[in-house]
Amino acid sequence: MTARITVYDTTLRDGEQSPGCSMHTGEKVRMALQLERLGVDVIEAGFPVASPGDFEAVRAISEAVRGAKIAALCRAKAKDIEVAGQALEGAVQPVIHTFLATSGIHLKWKLRITPEEALKQAVEGVKLARTFCDEVEFSAEDASRSDYGYLKEILQAVFEAGARTLNVPDTVGYALPPEYADMVRKLVRDIPGAVISVHCHNDLGLAVANSLAAVQAGARQVECTINGIGERAGNTSLEELVMALKVRREVLQADTGVRTELLMPTSAQLSTVTGVWPQPNKAIVGRNAFAHEAGIHQHGMLANPLCYEIMTPASVGLSQSMLILGKHSGKHAVESRLKQLGVALPGDEIEDVTRKVKEFADRSKFVYDEDLLAIVEHTAEPRAKLVRYQVIAGNQILPTATVEVEVEGHRRTASAVGNGPLDAALKAADAALGFELQLLEMHQRAVTAGKDALAEVTVRVVHDGIE
Ligand code: KIV
Ligand code: ZN
Repeated sequence: MTARITVYDTTLRDGEQSPGCSMHTGEKVRMALQLERLGVDVIEAGFPVASPGDFEAVRAISEAVRGAKIAALCRAKAKDIEVAGQALEGAVQPVIHTFLATSGIHLKWKLRITPEEALKQAVEGVKLARTFCDEVEFSAEDASRSDYGYLKEILQAVFEAGARTLNVPDTVGYALPPEYADMVRKLVRDIPGAVISVHCHNDLGLAVANSLAAVQAGARQVECTINGIGERAGNTSLEELVMALKVRREVLQADTGVRTELLMPTSAQLSTVTGVWPQPNKAIVGRNAFAHEAGIHQHGMLANPLCYEIMTPASVGLSQSMLILGKHSGKHAVESRLKQLGVALPGDEIEDVTRKVKEFADRSKFVYDEDLLAIVEHTAEPRAKLVRYQVIAGNQILPTATVEVEVEGHRRTASAVGNGPLDAALKAADAALGFELQLLEMHQRAVTAGKDALAEVTVRVVHDGIE
């Protein structure tokens, strides 16, 4: 019989912890709505006690998402749990996810408590969490490096205290598939009635392999992220996990509720928001994942795609033609393409997006899916906008930039020299805006091919704590 796996998405929590992937509340809400359309079962929306921004994001997502369950992370501490409970107040199906480390190394060096104290703290935490909602998940942080006897004892105790889902993270990405599967198999046997969940990190590139081994051993929930983003080397990649379960269903005997044709647009939406794109050879969503370069492969593909394709591009939402819209495209074409990408917008916003698509097509030759998603992301009118800039750089001159900005209708211009063109441009922008911006990160990539390629540049700056 095919088992139904709960897909627990932690893009907005563990994923957001990866460098360069932080998001504002509005961006998180839009991402959460897309995850809901994608069909994930649980959206971990944040770690409310960590910052007011995280609290607000969990609160806003709890209000906006009505289909998927919304989870909030908290340590097994009264204050954390209470704050998580408050942030989840508006959620239709709230889940409190509380955690405490169980490995000897974490207990001794990080928490400085005994195993007995940790057990008591975990049980008290779960009991308190249950006063806020029916669904409580407990994570034994660093489970894969914990003593099995102790792990079983603490998980049994929190299960009896009211945590239905028991998560056993491979926090440091250390486990190998056979040993991780062995731990899961024993827990399924030893704690009947509990849902065993897995959460794998990719430090050895084994996160997806460990998650799949765990599913075969009886895990019924997998925690994962879009594009595999997350702490250090990242988490289990949602798209890889879901497609492995789908393509190798006869062997793995498990299924998810994910609408796989929305994988590509969801991945692109995340990359557009963060400016961090997956490497080209990334499975499923990398830009080369379905590109056949070698002549012998192309010949085989033309004869029969089955020669080299184990899944169709369409099954993961990759459009056959990447070129989609132009300056003659009307509102209906834009609306229909957005629908195929899984984005539903009200009528007036479609008109706004259509106008911007035409403007974009006037400047560039083509409008690709990723351009369209970028236009949708940036449709809200900003308070300040760049009117024009000019940078002069070379090997024998001082890099000099002139920047003109419009702030709430008023235009201001300034020039500056710098150590390089970017330094000069940001200094000129500081002078024009009248305050200093700090550069957090910059990404640049070509979005079309050839010497005249269009480039997309993402610059993330901060002023007074506001990004
Ligand atoms: O990696 C980990 O252990 C975690 C837990 C907090 C679930 O992210
Ligand atoms: Zn993690």
